[in-house]
Amino acid sequence: MRKKIIAANWKMNMTIGETEAFFGTFLRELGDERKVEVVIVPPFLAIAKASELLRSAQGVKLGAQNMHWEKPGAFTGEVCAAMLRDVFCNYVVLGHSERRTYFGETDAIVNKKVLAAHANTLRPILCIGETLAERDGGLVEKVLDTQIRGSMAGLTAEQVEETVIAYEPVWAIGTGRTATPQQAQDAHAFIRKTVAEIWGQAAADKVRIQYGGSVKPANTAELMSQPDIDGALVGGASLDPRGFAEIVHNTARVLG
Ligand code: 13P
Repeated sequence: MRKKIIAANWKMNMTIGETEAFFGTFLRELGDERKVEVVIVPPFLAIAKASELLRSAQGVKLGAQNMHWEKPGAFTGEVCAAMLRDVFCNYVVLGHSERRTYFGETDAIVNKKVLAAHANTLRPILCIGETLAERDGGLVEKVLDTQIRGSMAGLTAEQVEETVIAYEPVWAIGTGRTATPQQAQDAHAFIRKTVAEIWGQAAADKVRIQYGGSVKPANTAELMSQPDIDGALVGGASLDPRGFAEIVHNTARVLG
């Protein structure tokens, strides 16, 4: 059984004060829900505060939105894996489409980060997904295949099992236009099949695949009911502590 994983990608939002206010409400609304794995992914500057606030909240984990692949050294403006471990991050989001589009991250760059994350016992939440033009051109499977082979090159089957893949169709991010449950399921099934071809069926059965793109409380249950959807990577709707807690509860309800 794959444990469902719901992650809050706050992107470039939330000051330290706002982070404190978020957790005050969120942890109360979350209650003792532990059937679902919850990961909060604040901007770098708020991670240490989030870590402190989560110390007593067992089960809620932390992630970062990016990192450099190098060891500590002369890389002005960058953050490395050891620094993320230092503030108790378990996860790191890598290859988000915003990083690929605005900061020129290629599969080769993302791959270095994915390998470095594993080398430092951080679990990557690796984002892949097609643009609207690629979907309209019938290229969904080709794009996903290329991103999987490129971004995950050199991983062992065990490392793949510890990786979370986030399928985020670019056209669904921040647009209010969610993929239909069937569109998402089809993409997730293809991703799992590709993982099976490269790393074997056991790894494919274990790897968790999140859906991301305009997830909100109202569409959570239907998406999370799909057999190959193992969670969600939530952007905009994760900034509201009540709404995000509702997404977690709606996911838990699907599990019965
Ligand atoms: P939205 O939920 O705002 O569409 O963003 C999705 C996303 O990019 C999560 O990483």
